[in-house]
Amino acid sequence: MPDILKGKKILVTSGPTREYIDPVRYLSNASSGKQGAAIADALVKYGADVTVVSGPAEVVYPTGAKIIRVESAQEMLDACLQSLPVDIAVCAAAVCDWRPKVISVHKIKKQDEVDEMTLTVIKNPDILAMLSQHPQRPKLVIGFAAETENLIENARKKLLEKQCDWIVANNVATEVFGRDTNTVHIITKDGVDRWPTLSKQEIGVRLTQRIGKLI
Ligand code: CTP
Repeated sequence: MPDILKGKKILVTSGPTREYIDPVRYLSNASSGKQGAAIADALVKYGADVTVVSGPAEVVYPTGAKIIRVESAQEMLDACLQSLPVDIAVCAAAVCDWRPKVISVHKIKKQDEVDEMTLTVIKNPDILAMLSQHPQRPKLVIGFAAETENLIENARKKLLEKQCDWIVANNVATEVFGRDTNTVHIITKDGVDRWPTLSKQEIGVRLTQRIGKLI
């Protein structure tokens, strides 16, 4: 494996985040962390100095990477900011957009007379946007877009709004979560690179090679 990324510091976010409601319940999503792990794996094999900030995931990350385990979006953001400066950031995590406004200290009890409950949520920080707009901005910032409709159009919008350099557009209308394959397209301000359905490992390698070409 060529050491094309030797000496490059790369931050990868991966997996879901967990936003606690009370000590035993949380909001989260179905992300397995497999795509993030496959990217980290390829980056390590190509010689990069990789830090993975991961939400709770069963997946195995490469031993050659530094792994920082977090739960919430806020913890993920803090760990990312503490990892700066880096040359490249790849934001593959499925960060919860919202968190409960109040985290109950005690388990919320079911009340027999109450049939309906309202949970107030507040917006989480957008880690990808914050890294893209940070004074210590990495030279290359790559985000993902998980979409169930208007894949390319929505992904383009995210590229512009978040001000990252590439978006890996991911159609999650069909089952992607937990699977070993994925169909993605790379969106940059110059156009769209359509990739066939590939294993998540192969996507990690191709993305790494594309990074290598640019560096
Ligand atoms: N992301 C992030 N922090 C958030 C939300 C998203 O860093 N609070 C990053 C993800 O890691 C991904 C990109 O932003 O790289 C897009 O995430 P996605 O879930 O597709 O989109 P959202 O920004 O959450 O927008 P929406 O849910 O409206 O599609």
